[in-house]
Amino acid sequence: MNDPIRVTVTGAAGQIGYSLLFRIANGDVFGPKQPVILQMLEIPPVMAALEGTAMELEDCAFPLLHGMVLTDDAMVGFDGTNWAFLVGAFPRKAGMERSDLISRNGPIFVGQGKAMNAVAADDLRVLVVGNPANTNALIAMSNAPDVPKDRFSAMTRLDHNRALNQLAKKMDVNVADFRHMVIWGNHSSTMVPDITHVRVGRRKAINAVGKRWYKKEFMPTVARRGSAIIQARGASSAASAANAAIGHIHDWAQGTRKGDWVSMSVYSDGTHYGAPKGVIFSFPCVCPGDGSYQIVEDLELQDEIKTRIQVSGEELLKERAVVADLLNG
Ligand code: NAD
Ligand code: LMR
Repeated sequence: MNDPIRVTVTGAAGQIGYSLLFRIANGDVFGPKQPVILQMLEIPPVMAALEGTAMELEDCAFPLLHGMVLTDDAMVGFDGTNWAFLVGAFPRKAGMERSDLISRNGPIFVGQGKAMNAVAADDLRVLVVGNPANTNALIAMSNAPDVPKDRFSAMTRLDHNRALNQLAKKMDVNVADFRHMVIWGNHSSTMVPDITHVRVGRRKAINAVGKRWYKKEFMPTVARRGSAIIQARGASSAASAANAAIGHIHDWAQGTRKGDWVSMSVYSDGTHYGAPKGVIFSFPCVCPGDGSYQIVEDLELQDEIKTRIQVSGEELLKERAVVADLLNG
């Protein structure tokens, strides 16, 4: 057994939290030899509900759960933390875009960024799930100037998984047989689900499904899946979001599958695929398993994908302008 690591989950009493915590405690993220101390951060009105979740965690008797901290104080919630899942934020309702949440949710990530800067462990890594995830990650990163930029990410793994599933259904192939799916850009309706690199063995997926289905059905279905779920459930995705967060951090911590990559929204320095500098942008990434990632280089992009990447990048620049007063420096 390794020494325990500290894992912070914000919004721990919410619906994603209710799926996520149990799977982290079960070892699904960091593996069967890695004990965890769960540091659960919430807001005062729901601390009683959080106590209930903690009682349930206790009642699972997870061997890997070596401690719990329940708090509404960010300085306590992030104290010494190694991995942070920033879920705590308000979800959208039917008819809203995720960016409509910016003024309500953005400020949450100012205080949390500052707290992480002050008290988190030196090897801190952060995944932002709360929407609009890419811009919230930028806010947190910018308020934690002592933490390297490559420690911050936002979640487009759910979109990546949705894309795999849509393609698998169309081609009648198991999701595990695909390689090289990409989601480019923002976790918003401008995201760019790209199957032009996807293969099943030596077969190119785009040749099997045809361009018409790809553009007219696949792309809009993946991009609007979050809204479709809100419409159907009356609440935004929860278990699938928790599952995607688990996949994202699992692969970042333990390594991506050999011969494949995953989609992660990470800091764009302006040198990759036309994405603008200074935003958190979804790219294909490979993780060796030591907590680092590399953006996959030198993919050839079709002109239409390049155009869509530009549109999504421009949207992120607009979101950044809206939150300019929340960015440090
Ligand atoms: P929820 O309302 O069920 O839970 C959110 C929780 O966050 C609540 O318990 C609330 O008390 C808490 N919270 C609010 N402000 C907080 C703060 N300052 N500190 C700590 N906790 C705080 O919502 P949910 O369904 O769990 O969704 C959470 C967020 O994740 C939403 O913004 C949603 O849109 C987003 N989301 C993102 C993706 C993605 O793919 N990136 C997928 C699904 C949901
Ligand atoms: C999703 O993609 O399911 C989440 O971002 C929730 C939403 O608002 O769509």
